[in-house]
Amino acid sequence: MIKEREYKKRRELLLKKIPNSSVGVIFSAEPATRSHDTHHPYRQDSNFYYFSGFKEDNAALVFLKSKDETKTVLFVQKKDKTLELWMGERLGAREAKKRFLVDEVCVIDDFEKKFKGFIKGKKNLYFELNSKKSSVKKVSKWTKDIKIRHDIVPLVQKMRLIKSAAEIEMIKESIDITAKAHHRAMKIDKRGKYEYQLQAEIEHEFKVNAAYSDAYTSIVACANSANTLHYIKNEKPLVEGELILIDAGCEHNYYASDITRTIPVNGKFSEAQKELYNLVLNTQLRVIAMIKPFVKRSHLQESAEKLLTKGMVELGILKGNYKKLIKEKKHKKYYPHGIGHWMGIDVHDPAPYKDVKEREIPLQKGMVLTIEPGLYIDKNDKSVPKKYRGIGIRIEDDILVTKDGCENLSHHIAKTVDEVESISFQS
Ligand code: GLY
Ligand code: MN
Ligand code: MN
Repeated sequence: MIKEREYKKRRELLLKKIPNSSVGVIFSAEPATRSHDTHHPYRQDSNFYYFSGFKEDNAALVFLKSKDETKTVLFVQKKDKTLELWMGERLGAREAKKRFLVDEVCVIDDFEKKFKGFIKGKKNLYFELNSKKSSVKKVSKWTKDIKIRHDIVPLVQKMRLIKSAAEIEMIKESIDITAKAHHRAMKIDKRGKYEYQLQAEIEHEFKVNAAYSDAYTSIVACANSANTLHYIKNEKPLVEGELILIDAGCEHNYYASDITRTIPVNGKFSEAQKELYNLVLNTQLRVIAMIKPFVKRSHLQESAEKLLTKGMVELGILKGNYKKLIKEKKHKKYYPHGIGHWMGIDVHDPAPYKDVKEREIPLQKGMVLTIEPGLYIDKNDKSVPKKYRGIGIRIEDDILVTKDGCENLSHHIAKTVDEVESISFQS
């Protein structure tokens, strides 16, 4: 768990980054309607959560900085027996004051009055400039007189780029649950089942292990479905002899995991499947081995493209000189996406990839990123040897950058052909 002291440290760091005569504000997420009068389960705004660890809606966190003092104020919903009967328990201002190490706790009903007081004489406003939240729009209206208006979001995103020891523990916990889910998918008899039924087995494992939610909608894609990169329908039957691409990860205590494994329906890879699989696997292992501080993500991308393209030439999928093929972007037909992304509170952690001068940010100790090369051969692609058609493979792990290298946080999830085959139900 992240300690209250750590949230306090994060708020103090933000206050250090803003000048004197500033007021900053971040709001909780708004509840999301599913349809008519039904709602999605509430999920806190990631930036608000990063600074507070508070999971209730209708809340705001205010940062005040003047020459002589800094102050943080948390606004929460007040206790209300009737509403709590329907909507669930609220912490209330008194308990919030005991729990959070903020300077002041107020009830959200007083927000307008208090906030209008806070902004008096302030030169800078930091808020979620591009947010669609209704509270942000209100604040924008009330603060027309403040000339210097900044987006608070990039400041937070930059902080989120480097994970603390406690955050890394949280990510590991999330991955450990996801490991169980992928292993369950490998172990069960998949004959006669549909993709959504395998999805149910995976998400069952998330929930029984206390991960309340997935971190993104699971992709369970058999055979040619895997060649649709964002396939989430998961509606087709699992066909004997084919592969299933499973991209699934839980969110546990607000930290994501993002894992892809590609496994055979009947527990055993065919020779052609093995050839493609090992090309993706060896590429992934080689790229992971390159990860250390000061390496750039673009270098990892280029290396993956080179290794995959060379391999595709060897297998007769592409023809010609691999360097020329890359120059002409011919490989993009089969490997069209990036090598990976930052991960943390969000599966695609919205931390920056470039600095303010548009220079790529190199890897640093404490960053967490996915490494997820893939190859996708459409079933109707006549330019490719028949045996490879209709196969889509991606292998994805979550990697922590360490002082002089990296740690694969999901190393314990079966991945080599032998590992997958020996854990799998064979039919
Ligand atoms: N699961 C989303 C991704 O791999 O980026
Ligand atoms: Mn990913
Ligand atoms: Mn993924």
